[in-house]
Amino acid sequence: MGGLIPADVVESVRLATDIVQLIGEYVRLEKKGKNYVGSCPFHQERDPSFTVSPEKQIFYCFGCGAGGNVFRFLMLYENLTFPEAVRRLADRAGIVVPRFSGPREGSRAWLEEQAWEINAMVRDFYHHFLTHRPEAREARNYLEKRGVSRHTQGIFQLGYAPPGWDTLLQFLASRNCSYRQAVELGLLVMGERGKPYDRFRNRLIFPICNAQGRVVGFGGRVLDDSHPKYLNTPETMVFNKRQLLFGLHLARAAIREKGYAIIMEGYMDVITAHQHGIHNAVASLGTSLTAEQGSLLSRYTKDVVIAYDTDAAGVAATIRGLDLLQQLGFRVRVVTIPEGKDPDEYIRQHGKEKWQQLVETATSLLDYKLSRAAEKGGDTATLLAQVLPNLAAMSGEVEREEGIKRVAARLSLSWEAVKDALQRFNKNAGKKWPNPDKIAKKKHNIIEDARSKAEFMVVKLLLQYPGYLTEVRRELGESFPRDPGLRQIYQFICRNEEAVRVDPAAWMHELDEEGQYLLSRLLMEKVPGEDPVKIIPDLVYTIKRNNVQEQREKLVQELAEAERVGDRGRIVRILSDLQDLLHTR
Ligand code: GTP
Ligand code: MN
Repeated sequence: MGGLIPADVVESVRLATDIVQLIGEYVRLEKKGKNYVGSCPFHQERDPSFTVSPEKQIFYCFGCGAGGNVFRFLMLYENLTFPEAVRRLADRAGIVVPRFSGPREGSRAWLEEQAWEINAMVRDFYHHFLTHRPEAREARNYLEKRGVSRHTQGIFQLGYAPPGWDTLLQFLASRNCSYRQAVELGLLVMGERGKPYDRFRNRLIFPICNAQGRVVGFGGRVLDDSHPKYLNTPETMVFNKRQLLFGLHLARAAIREKGYAIIMEGYMDVITAHQHGIHNAVASLGTSLTAEQGSLLSRYTKDVVIAYDTDAAGVAATIRGLDLLQQLGFRVRVVTIPEGKDPDEYIRQHGKEKWQQLVETATSLLDYKLSRAAEKGGDTATLLAQVLPNLAAMSGEVEREEGIKRVAARLSLSWEAVKDALQRFNKNAGKKWPNPDKIAKKKHNIIEDARSKAEFMVVKLLLQYPGYLTEVRRELGESFPRDPGLRQIYQFICRNEEAVRVDPAAWMHELDEEGQYLLSRLLMEKVPGEDPVKIIPDLVYTIKRNNVQEQREKLVQELAEAERVGDRGRIVRILSDLQDLLHTR
């Protein structure tokens, strides 16, 4: 994360920047106790929960969970990379950042930065063309006809590519951008006699950004009924549509805030949704959902609502994408839009309230598949086989029992028959369906059960009282903490005892974005009670007891298995392990 700017320079820049002053330039802050509070710039809110601590030099929003030091604030607010944020603040503070620091010329990071820069320039060019040039009147009319406001056009930086074959070409030449680069980025197409020409002609332009808001490619739509309706940037070094979700950079705060994402099909659907205040919508760029997109989204939520065009949602390829999401640990629900409309039409015609109601009626993927299957007909065995993966992927016991009941009812089977089938499926599935544990890891900032709460508190207290580290390490050992987010922070604390003692704000930018959010939360949430240190032993005990409990359950299961196959040696060993466990304290 630190890029190639020397750490001591980064630290000087940080020390030279007061976080209250910096954020005060963007957000109206009011003093409240030791801290300053204001309206969070990263999500919509009524009561200010965005908090800045002058003492800790960090910010944290209790509403959406965003947090970090001065660098993270600027990265989020201005969509900058870490080195860019450091440079920006260095300029402000009059600190010279060595010129050679930055990605090495020709390195991948350098090439990516170049690509973003050129794409951003092209986006601005097309946007300016749309908003200012007389030749773009038809395009402006088209957008007006489709109800896209000027404001929304600005938010999405929509553009217009004129009909000529060399408009962009000329512009790029005037900016000293090489043809070779522009061809590699899919902006120009290499013609037959080695003469490049504009890829996008007489099309509305939809810039496509990555999650950080960097322009990585474009979609271009015709203004009439000609074909192809859309033309997209081909795969390039920075444009891989399997790894992108249209609108995610604008939606991510709202996704966090609302707790779920709506996945739509088209650019226009997402744009209309945003214009109507539905900010947690993204689109999947015309392919069925991929594991990469799932993993991208899982950083913000594990709960999705699918709002595809009625015809498309039933298509086998689409269903596979949804099954995949469920396997990745997502809760997947499907909205059925009445009258065969797409979200764009529906929202424009009926408004936000009606849309909200529609989302509330979304059915689970399981139920959705059951009713689709019932419509189409087919034999019970086939239908059952189609929904077993969904039952298997359900994480909660209660949820699964519920699901089994519904499948049984729907297919007129007995509860036992479904349960049996599921067990058989699970036996065979292990091989076919590798459990993508890495992606299915749970969202860092939802910490609900007693064990996770205890882990959270222990790490939190360690940040305040690093003196207890030795004890915690001795008592809880290597497997602590289990939560991957907390683990990242705990391991940092272990490796850098001295640094932690000094100041978390000085090292938090070494963590990834989620890690910074979590650390900010750890640092900002109030500790209940009088003497927090007294509770460390209790917390440690809770975690140890939970470990024992889990080991016991595992052994009991193994015992059952050993008894089933009649493996005497193993039975004896397991029983003795269980005995030992009884005496563990
Ligand atoms: P409108 O027809 O303007 O409302 O656009 P839409 O966004 O609703 O498009 P549609 O529902 O037809 O398609 C959904 C998405 O699939 C689009 O946003 C594109 O990403 C993609 N798509 C549609 N048609 C094409 C095409 O002809 N070529 C390519 N490459 N992608 C397409
Ligand atoms: Mn549409």
